[in-house]
Amino acid sequence: MKNINISTLARMKRDGEKIAMLTCYDAGFVPALEQAGVDVLLVGDSLGMVVQGHSSTLPVTLDQMVYHTACVARARTCAFLIADMPFMSYAEPRQALDTAARLMKEGGAHMVKLEGGESQLPTVKSLSGQGVPVCAHLGLQPQSVHKLGGYRVQGTDSGSAGAMRRDALALQAAGAQMLVLECVPAELAQEISGLLEIPVIGIGAGRDCDGQVLVLYDVLGLTPRMPRFAKDFLQGQGSIAGAAAAFVEAVRTGTFPEPGQVLR
Ligand code: KIV
Repeated sequence: MKNINISTLARMKRDGEKIAMLTCYDAGFVPALEQAGVDVLLVGDSLGMVVQGHSSTLPVTLDQMVYHTACVARARTCAFLIADMPFMSYAEPRQALDTAARLMKEGGAHMVKLEGGESQLPTVKSLSGQGVPVCAHLGLQPQSVHKLGGYRVQGTDSGSAGAMRRDALALQAAGAQMLVLECVPAELAQEISGLLEIPVIGIGAGRDCDGQVLVLYDVLGLTPRMPRFAKDFLQGQGSIAGAAAAFVEAVRTGTFPEPGQVLR
């Protein structure tokens, strides 16, 4: 298994090789995911919903993110490791530096992820300027669920689609080295992936991003209400390693998401 770093991911984008990313919250799952060929492990703040049982990601604390990131980092041997900065832990650039320092120094993360567009540009510049690799997150931003009025597809009209395009380019110019697009019409996600030089990873954003990410508990069929864009890859596989390998294969060959899983 080859060590994956940010240059590997940039090279994969250039070569048109699809990137497979899954969330992971503890050490126990890491060997199966790495052996299956998962390139990137994301310690997502989705752990607030799938592990802790909350109805949103908002209650997740920085201490909890550091704890889970360190659990995953202890078992990691080759995958690239991203940790989410939780709600209100990066409201100002100075606070974001302190948060990133903890996730990288105590947690062992290689990159931090934050939600938001234009308002986050000073923070992304500041983090990147201090040597912190940043993954931006546009489209549906779950930390803003109460502002958005629910978990809805974003960028469906020309105004919001244009703003997303501009934000994506500005985040890249500010130093972001990766972008997650969540719940975005497939055509818009395809366009943004083509515009950017950095890898764009989709979730509910169609087939034509540079890679795909899913929540591990969805991939294992554990989620009671499966999101429309997700898929239970355990069905017909019989093992966690098999499910992860099926996900990786579907991402690499561009057969996931299937037409019924594409949002409009
Ligand atoms: O927290 C998370 O799991 C995420 C993914 C949905 C991209 O941000």
